[in-house]
Amino acid sequence: MKLIFLGPPGAGKGTLAALVAERFSIPHISTGEIFRAAIREKTPLGLKVQAIIDGGQLVSDDITIALVKERLSKDDTNRGFILDGFPRTIPQAEALAGIVEVDSAVNFDIADNEVVSRLSGRRVCRGCNRNYHVVTMPPAKEGVCDKCGGELFVREDDKVDAISKRLEVYRAQTAPLIEWYRGKGKLTDIDARPASGVILEKFTAIFQK
Ligand code: AP5
Ligand code: MG
Repeated sequence: MKLIFLGPPGAGKGTLAALVAERFSIPHISTGEIFRAAIREKTPLGLKVQAIIDGGQLVSDDITIALVKERLSKDDTNRGFILDGFPRTIPQAEALAGIVEVDSAVNFDIADNEVVSRLSGRRVCRGCNRNYHVVTMPPAKEGVCDKCGGELFVREDDKVDAISKRLEVYRAQTAPLIEWYRGKGKLTDIDARPASGVILEKFTAIFQK
């Protein structure tokens, strides 16, 4: 199962990807997560991309494509993978097509107002990166991760200005990929509004052979 998760920021790509990766035992590859780890560890890559990500802009195609190419060369991707948040531009999609053939691009369909409330309520664990939402997916104890006990924080790019920038960038640069993949007969639309457990079951019904 070689899949791309496509959709606006805050659509729930990372949340569903974590559930699907566990259910189907395939790696969840999030370019955003790889960049955030580099920022946390203050690597040369992290220092280069921090301001771009905090401001809600896209990292350059060259950097992102090289990173994904490297990741997809690892053996754990042989049985399948989920690419969460890549590709995000037509040049990235063209580069990916030259690296591997994906089975489907899963398009998370959701309205802007829902995206804004999901992002502004998101909390992320500093320890294990698990996502929560203060209203729809709260932790058992406020500010503390259920899984590892880590501290929950607000992502810098979940502040109001960065959210609107990300939506603008999504519309201009990423949304055209929907028709690009549809034209290749590879698009699967998924209604991203229900609870994540409901989406997981629908997803499984579509993709389980
Ligand atoms: P990235 O990390 O990919 O961010 P994003 O695409 O903006 O998506 P998010 O992670 O914000 O949202 P999500 O869809 O994963 O939603 P989530 O599951 O967390 O990228 C970050 C940055 O890195 C980019 O802006 C860019 O700078 C750079 N970058 C990354 N990839 C790049 C690329 N290919 N090229 C160039 N630059 C790149 O859910 C959101 C919230 O909703 C959570 O609080 C969650 O608990 C809640 N929620 C989730 N599902 C549901 C549900 N079904 N019902 C109710 N609540 C839900
Ligand atoms: Mg995500």
